[in-house]
Amino acid sequence: MNVLLLGSGGREHAFAHYIAKSSNLNTLFIAPGNAGTALCGTNCKLNPLDFEAVLNFCTQNQIELIIPGNEDPLVAGIVDFFETHAPQILVAGPNKWCAQLEGSKSFSKQFMAANAIPTAAYMQVDANNIGQGKAFLETLQAPYVLKADGLAAGKGVLIIDNLNQTQAELENMIVNQSFGTASQTVVIEEFLQGIEISVFVISDGINYKILGSAKDYKRIGEGDSGLNTGGMGAISPVPFANKEFMDKVTQRIIEPTMNGLKAAGNPYKGILFIGLMNCNGNPYVIEYNVRMGDPETEAIFPRLQVDMLQMMHSVATQQLNNVAFSHSPLTAATVFLVSQGYPQSYAKNIAMQLPTTLPEQVVLLHAGTSMEQGQLVTNGGRVMAVTALESTLEQAIKTAMHTAEQVQYTGKYYRTDIGQDLLIYTHEY
Ligand code: AMP
Ligand code: GLY
Repeated sequence: MNVLLLGSGGREHAFAHYIAKSSNLNTLFIAPGNAGTALCGTNCKLNPLDFEAVLNFCTQNQIELIIPGNEDPLVAGIVDFFETHAPQILVAGPNKWCAQLEGSKSFSKQFMAANAIPTAAYMQVDANNIGQGKAFLETLQAPYVLKADGLAAGKGVLIIDNLNQTQAELENMIVNQSFGTASQTVVIEEFLQGIEISVFVISDGINYKILGSAKDYKRIGEGDSGLNTGGMGAISPVPFANKEFMDKVTQRIIEPTMNGLKAAGNPYKGILFIGLMNCNGNPYVIEYNVRMGDPETEAIFPRLQVDMLQMMHSVATQQLNNVAFSHSPLTAATVFLVSQGYPQSYAKNIAMQLPTTLPEQVVLLHAGTSMEQGQLVTNGGRVMAVTALESTLEQAIKTAMHTAEQVQYTGKYYRTDIGQDLLIYTHEY
């Protein structure tokens, strides 16, 4: 099979790394890719949002399957475009209607309310009901959560302690469009107290399977301090996601989500990322994303014992039940190496040296890297994800940190406390 993978991050290198191992693969193209994906296939210059150009490329290269790594092409309707214009080319992802689960916060909140899926109380506000929005805020306890309705590159959520400031910010988001058109509509939410965990599910529209759970470390600084980033590390599985908790996630969230989408005439085909808050043992949905997470993918995929290409192909052909799946019993710890200054401005094009040998239980996945005249250089804020798989969380963290030390480039920064907060939980899964 000839495959086109869309994206350029650590998540896409993870997809490429495991797809390249499949005996069903003929040629793998990655658009635009990075220096890591170039080790698994051919990088090509192609704008994933220019569907006509993607179609031309697919026709020229006899592509049979497109795998979108991030949400943008899905939210823009790449699945629907190919269904209409080239149904013989399969796209492994949800259609535009389902992609609204990520593309619109108000859509996903209405969907959850309609299907009795546990989530924070909310109100949808736009230019017509700002006054009611301010009054709703007065009924909530601090801190207050404001979310831009549309896609805002992961930056559309504000959490504010002071009521007056929140009311002013609500107005600013809507009237002054402080997040562009994404904040013409705002969702106000009750603040949920608890520990975050994400659960990843794959579905072919008929059946689904749970790919795993992961905890992401979003802040730049040790102890979850400082600015938000794309993600500084991840642990999978999450030790408190024991059978009892995962049964609640399945019964209260996954089943009603899949059934609700089927009932709406849009059965879910693709990967669903469910961001949850564990509130005293009870899961509440914070958000849906219609793709894998980054860096969660780098922690989840090394534990999956599956033919990755067959798995992704099966979501488009309703054959998921014929895919053999199992999970490694090992724990994965992923630490992201980033550029000095990230998530604000940082230098690029800094020469990198990787360790010459790696232990078998370590996977290095590239994100912001490129190859310039035979030299590996940095090419982004998040540079490289180091994952270690070990029989205990403690050892996985140690091995990942040890390898992180060995990758060399000027300005390398990483958090040394990834997973430390989870060491208090006993393994029960
Ligand atoms: P989102 O983009 O919806 O994932 O929100 C970004 C982050 O804001 C989440 O990962 C949470 O840490 C936090 N957050 C979002 N909604 C809530 C909520 N209702 N209560 C508490 N924290 C939240
Ligand atoms: N790690 C969070 C995300 O991929 O959205």
